[in-house]
Amino acid sequence: MSIAICPGSFDPITLGHLNIIRRTSKIFDRVVVCVMNNANKPNPMFTVEEKLDMVIRAVERYPNVTVDCSSGLLAEYAKQYEGAVIVKGLRAASDFEYEFQMNLINKKINPALETMFLTASEKYTFLSSSIVREMAYYGADLTGLVPNEIIPDIQRKAEIWRSK
Ligand code: PNS
Repeated sequence: MSIAICPGSFDPITLGHLNIIRRTSKIFDRVVVCVMNNANKPNPMFTVEEKLDMVIRAVERYPNVTVDCSSGLLAEYAKQYEGAVIVKGLRAASDFEYEFQMNLINKKINPALETMFLTASEKYTFLSSSIVREMAYYGADLTGLVPNEIIPDIQRKAEIWRSK
């Protein structure tokens, strides 16, 4: 069985992430979406539990996609799935530089681990979790940026942020 791991900080999950997950689920028998910490993004908007809950609801419609979380290294996490491949989305050349470095460090930790990249769908190349957080902070409409079912979660959290 072919297994893909789609890791990310998902703060929050966007339609760009979901597009990559959906396309990956057509290529691999099984997809594990893993909510992880990104040390370069130390002040997340959502807790891991909140992110997990949103990702689970967002991928519910895909039967071969499951959701997990880990606070460890991705390359170590992947060892439990023999032959699993990391799949990440690339929006632009700037993404490539960072992801290429990540791929190399992951390979250093776990030489058997391969990483594959899917190019972002054109309509989501502008989209990022940070754009969503900023839009939410200003009370902007999030339709078309994140899955509809998690919009109320983001709006609620943005209200708390604004009132601080
Ligand atoms: O959605 P993101 O923020 O681009 O995802 C990045 C993520 C979470 C996949 C990356 O930071 C990661 O792999 N974190 C786990 C810790 C790790 O393995 N870091 C790389 C080696 S130092």
